[in-house]
Amino acid sequence: MKSSFQAISWTDSGLRLLDQRRLPQAEIYLDFVDAPAVAEAIRDMVVRGAPAIGITAAYAVVLAAQQHTINSPDNWRTPLLRDMQQLAEARPTAVNLVWAVERMRVCLTTAGEAPVAALLEEARRIHAEDIEANQRMGGYGADLINKGDSLLTHCNAGSLATGGYGTALGVVRSAWAAEKVHTMFAGETRPWLQGARLTAWELLQDDIPVTLITDNAASHLMRSGRVQWVITGADRVAANGDVINKIGTCQLAVACRYYGVKMMVVAPLSTLDMAMPNGEQVTIEQRPESEVLSLAGQPVAASGATAWNPAFDVTPAGLVDYLVTEAGVIEAPSHEKLAALHNEVSR
Ligand code: MRU
Repeated sequence: MKSSFQAISWTDSGLRLLDQRRLPQAEIYLDFVDAPAVAEAIRDMVVRGAPAIGITAAYAVVLAAQQHTINSPDNWRTPLLRDMQQLAEARPTAVNLVWAVERMRVCLTTAGEAPVAALLEEARRIHAEDIEANQRMGGYGADLINKGDSLLTHCNAGSLATGGYGTALGVVRSAWAAEKVHTMFAGETRPWLQGARLTAWELLQDDIPVTLITDNAASHLMRSGRVQWVITGADRVAANGDVINKIGTCQLAVACRYYGVKMMVVAPLSTLDMAMPNGEQVTIEQRPESEVLSLAGQPVAASGATAWNPAFDVTPAGLVDYLVTEAGVIEAPSHEKLAALHNEVSR
């Protein structure tokens, strides 16, 4: 099963992004021709989701190379490297962003004095590899699910958040195609409503019925016995298996353990950060207070209230039942198991 839209694409006029701020009301595509505008689009959530912002940044490096080799033929590396730095810093939590920019930097070292074609090929490779990883993870994750199980996902870890097919929603797509899913639940995911706006939209685009719940209904849903799995993506997985993902993931994992619901995290190897020993070291992005104090541009909080708006949280590895990667499934992830996987794939 393939999703029916393309959130990120390379066209004759440059990089095209589906504007996720406007979904589900409007399906609007924006074209980009320079890297600073793409960095701004990443910061402003035109495109979001860990693998998607990495792929977007990779294409933006191509835009930067196109621009600077024309405008500064004798000294294009300096402005190009400056743009790459800006892209890598556009959002702090998802490791895929720095991972993708680093891959482009390595490609640049062997690309010679006319680097655009080689960089475009590398960006396309990063994009294609991500889709392939998602399809593979979709199969691995779906194999764990029993026929008739119901699933709850959080945020959006689908085609919109990746190169295509999705991580958590890749598992959902594969499990749905195998006719295993009884009910697909999605949490709204306040404050930005990735679940209500994006996950619901993209599943319905592919004719997968979805039942929304408010975030605060999750433990009650688990208690009722109507859900067997929580399935999420990740923005970073630390070397000990701690999972950094959308705010609210940790409270779902805590509730899962209490109610005997299984917790599955689906993340490609590009999300694995073996240089980070555990989740304590991660920089958690703080988003504007206005995202909490208002909804769809309308103030909802009492005037004068302030808000604390961390965008991500850390789920301890001990609360994760399965970590699904394209290199295989790790049950009860630990430092030893992740190191073994990492060594195997680096050989
Ligand atoms: O703030 P966002 O929307 O970029 O956060 C996205 C998430 O937290 C996703 O769950 C995560 O990136 C995994 S996407 C495959």
